[in-house]
Amino acid sequence: MKKTVIAGNWKMNMTRAETKAFFREIAPLVNAKDSCGVVFCVPFTDLAAAVRGARGTGIKIGAQNVHFMEKGAYTGEISAKMLREAGVSYVIVGHSERRQYFGETDETVNLRVKAALAAGLKVILCLGEMRDAREKGITDEVVSMQTKLALRDVTEKQLRSVIIAYEPVWAIGTGLTATPEQADETCGVIRATVASLYGKKAARRLVIQYGGSMNEKNAAELLAQPNVNGGLIGGASLKPAAFAAIVAAANGKN
Ligand code: 13P
Repeated sequence: MKKTVIAGNWKMNMTRAETKAFFREIAPLVNAKDSCGVVFCVPFTDLAAAVRGARGTGIKIGAQNVHFMEKGAYTGEISAKMLREAGVSYVIVGHSERRQYFGETDETVNLRVKAALAAGLKVILCLGEMRDAREKGITDEVVSMQTKLALRDVTEKQLRSVIIAYEPVWAIGTGLTATPEQADETCGVIRATVASLYGKKAARRLVIQYGGSMNEKNAAELLAQPNVNGGLIGGASLKPAAFAAIVAAANGKN
């Protein structure tokens, strides 16, 4: 059966020492062995400490980006194989902050998705509309196109290792949240797009997360929506108690 997955995206926060302290605090609060899936996507320099801190807890560790080439002269980049060897099992690809500030395009997102999957990583593929697209009423077209382009040449078997995170850009870090109805509706559009590409069964199996100012107060209502199968949490993933409360809300759903 499909599992709810709650993932934290720390973004550019937490030093190695802070990471160690965080996992000491979160471990007793979250029993990820018999609950929803729990993932923390941490900065590259925190990966080793996070992998160590999560040992024995059932919590999985992810990175926040991956390069699409196997190796070579790409100064500053990190390959999928390097992540695998570091004990990483997930990677975020296509986060809107990478699209907005670092020139990430649908094409490079697709290349990164394929490189990560080929190396055996699980992918949290982020997509979502900007505020003006929501205002113009073209959200469905935008997310559907982003889904198709990101998954180009991804096989049905590989899709089993993909989670899609629907993150409306206007809701990220702003305190604004999509209403549960908006989140459900747009996650439904993404699922229908995946059904058109891979069939209904594959679409039903797909975990689609909502992300954008999800917190301990609004999580239960968002997670109660049929098309919302988890959350990708930014700010609230830096606070052990808040994050544990979101995991508890998700377990209430299972
Ligand atoms: P916030 O939860 O801080 O809005 O961030 C969401 C996000 O971008 C997760 O990837």
